[in-house]
This record gives sequence, structure tokens and C-alpha cells, in this order.
Amino acid sequence: MQNSERVGTQSTAESVLSIRGLTKRFDALVALDDVSLTVGRGSITGLIGPNGAGKSTLFNTVVGDVKPDLGSIEFNGKPIQGYTPDKVFRCGLARTFQIPQPFPEMTVLDNLMLSAPSQLGEKFWAPWFLQRKIQRQESIHLQQAHEILEFTTLDKVAHLAAAHLSGGQQKLLELARVLMSKPDMIMLDEPAAGVNPSLTQLLIEKIHQLNRSGITFLIIEHNMDLVMKHCDRIVALANGRIIFDGTAVDAQASEELLDSYLGQPGVGI
Ligand SMILES: Nc1ncnc2c1ncn2[C@@H]1O[C@H](COP(=O)(O)OP(=O)(O)OP(=O)(O)O)[C@@H](O)[C@H]1O
Ligand SMILES: [Mg+2]
Repeated sequence: MQNSERVGTQSTAESVLSIRGLTKRFDALVALDDVSLTVGRGSITGLIGPNGAGKSTLFNTVVGDVKPDLGSIEFNGKPIQGYTPDKVFRCGLARTFQIPQPFPEMTVLDNLMLSAPSQLGEKFWAPWFLQRKIQRQESIHLQQAHEILEFTTLDKVAHLAAAHLSGGQQKLLELARVLMSKPDMIMLDEPAAGVNPSLTQLLIEKIHQLNRSGITFLIIEHNMDLVMKHCDRIVALANGRIIFDGTAVDAQASEELLDSYLGQPGVGI
């Protein structure tokens, strides 16, 4: 679906993620400077900005990998700041990493199985009296993993070690892993970076399919073609501050955005 059909959803949509006054300093560097942002339920929002703008730090802070200095974060109407990354994940908010982080020696299938939430078998007392329940849960997770592998076209490489996948397949594996938690919202950090055009196209199709099934997306990307054509709304960060929030059409007309980012070499619209 093109953005022209989707523009405007952000103004009426209920927000799934709501960030207020988020500030993060690394010593003297202010990586996030009083950032406030809401993401509409069911939207595909693009987060853009130059290298070092604070985009990944925003993700890290939202999911609990990095502790903010100030600010509040609500997901599905519930405050989540101070939660561990695992707890945020179990709330239905999942993220992928800019540099894929699979378990490289494990198979693609095992990488998915390890990403399944609430594994009863991990509890030290569980095997004594929960064996049947554990087996049932594992077989449900296995079926779910196979469905996700087929959906992401990784079924052909399910039994390969993750280290043997191409860069693009590793990006798909990142997406596949987070799908194991049946998330309400997925934050993708540069899903198309280093990915060939046909896999990028596949990834875009999968994002739209998942979005139609109700999953909200917040996507960091430098690939302006992807952002401008496929995001309902675009938010731009520079030096830790939001400098633009609007549609693709407005983004291309924004002088501040052109000066600070879109006009730079290598960032084509
Ligand atoms: N853990 C950290 N310790 C110190 N400085 C950090 C840390 N994480 C990020 N930074 C700094 O914070 C700033 C924002 O970094 P961040 O990774 O969020 O940028 P980005 O917008 O994701 O950039 P890119 O497009 O290159 O991925 C940068 O100056 C970076 O060097
Ligand atoms: Mg980054």
C-alpha cells in the first residue's frame, strides 16, 4: 500500500506508544533531548535522521536496554519505563537490532525457539511436575516457528546455522524472532540496510501483511524510497531533538529537513 492511501491515519488513531520528555545523556553528549512522540495504533511510522541523531538510542531507551535520565514511556496505556527488556518484550513491544544479533552457531529454527516467551522448561523446578505442559508448550512453539519461517521465506534455511545466512536473511531472521512473541508493535532498526533490492521488497511486503493483521510499526531507515512510499507518517530526529513530524509530502517540502538531512549526499528521496 502506498503512503497516499494511508496519509492522515496518525491524526485520528489511538496511540499505542506514547513517549514524553525523554532525555538521555552520555556524559556531555545529549543523545535524546526532551523527545515527545506518540505512535498511532495500526500505523507504520518512519523515524529518520542523520547518523548519530539518537534514533537507536530512542529504541534502546524505550525497550529498557538503556535507562533514560528523564521522561515517561507508555505502551498500551501502561507506564513501562524502568521495565527490563524482557518484560517490555512480554508486554508486546518488540524491537530488532541495527546489527542483527542472532545466536550464530544455532540453527535458524533454534533461534526462533529461543525467542518464544514464557518457557516453562527454563524454570529449575518445572521438569518435576510440569513435563506434559512443557512438551505441549514446546510443540505449540515449534508449530508457530515453522509458520513464521514459512511466512518469512526462511523455511528453506531452517536447519542452517544463523551465521551462514546472508545479510538480508539475517534481517528477516530478526523479524522472524520477534514475531514469536506475537507483538502488538515492532520497532525495526534499519531493516533494509545492506539488504539487496529483492529481499528489501520482500521485507516491505511482509511489513504490510503484518500491519494489515494489526501490528504497529516504527521503522528507523536511511532508505528514503522505503520511508517515503511506505510510511504513514515520518518523524525526523537531529541532535537528539525532533525536527519534523508529518507526512512524506510535507517531509519533501520541509526546508529544515532538506538542510539537515535529506539534502545530504547519499540520502536520495
Ligand atoms: N552507549 C553509549 N555510550 C556513549 N555514547 C553513545 C552510546 N550510544 C549512543 N551513543 C552516542 O549517542 C549518539 C546517538 O547515537 P545513536 O546510535 O542513537 O544514533 P543513530 O541516530 O541511531 O545513528 P545511525 O544512523 O548512525 O545508526 C551518538 O553520538 C552516539 O555516539
Ligand atoms: Mg542507529
